[in-house]
Amino acid sequence: MLTIYRAKDYKDMSRQAANLISAQIIMKPDSVLGLATGSTPIGLYERLVKRCKKGDLDFSRITSVNLDEYKGLSPNNEQSYRYFMNDNLFDHVNIQKARTFVPDGTEENEEKACKDYDEIIAQVGGIDLQLLGLGRNGHIGFNEPSDSFPKGTHCVSLTQSTIEANQRFFEKATDVPTKAYTMGIGTIMQARKIVLVASGTDKAEALAAALCGPITPQVPASILQLHPDVHVFADEDALKDVKF
Ligand code: GLP
Repeated sequence: MLTIYRAKDYKDMSRQAANLISAQIIMKPDSVLGLATGSTPIGLYERLVKRCKKGDLDFSRITSVNLDEYKGLSPNNEQSYRYFMNDNLFDHVNIQKARTFVPDGTEENEEKACKDYDEIIAQVGGIDLQLLGLGRNGHIGFNEPSDSFPKGTHCVSLTQSTIEANQRFFEKATDVPTKAYTMGIGTIMQARKIVLVASGTDKAEALAAALCGPITPQVPASILQLHPDVHVFADEDALKDVKF
């Protein structure tokens, strides 16, 4: 089942999504949270940090598994997703760092990096709530449009459009890594609850295709239509082409 929460703007979307994630943490304090990077979740992470600082949220028993990481970037590289997570969330809440997992971007052996990450996800008992952003081409995590839905963690070659979209975080286009490790669609779909956040007109086409179009690996997010518990938090700009 898919529930859409129409937000006025980015701020409103962040507030609403943070409410649902807070409720998850309160109702199941030892939740396994699947977390996402990108600019869209930043506002909701800020709210979670504020609530934790006020004493309203407790991360001490939370485990987190992130969706993806650039291959070749180490945790202290400011562009790495591990750095992003520390900077935007983990360093500011009472989560145990040892219980936060991100694929190992420094692992050269692709097969090993992916197998290790799948083992971690299995060991923590799977994901209670998976947070997702949306790529402009409909990707989730770094599952790019392709001919099939990959099940487990795998190494992907990023598409030109994703490299261009992520270029804003790097000095020049050639600095953007061309490969990444990402959780598979199968693992994402096994999460017990999914929260998708999308904001702005540049996500409108991908969001409409994901929510209303045919289910196809050419629009990886479209598979979410088959998940039993999806909550989409999107602002009016992102929802402009969604006609329900
Ligand atoms: C990257 C990440 C995705 C994210 C997407 C959109 O490609 N791997 O997980 O959803 O960017 O990011 P943004 O929220 O910045 O638009």
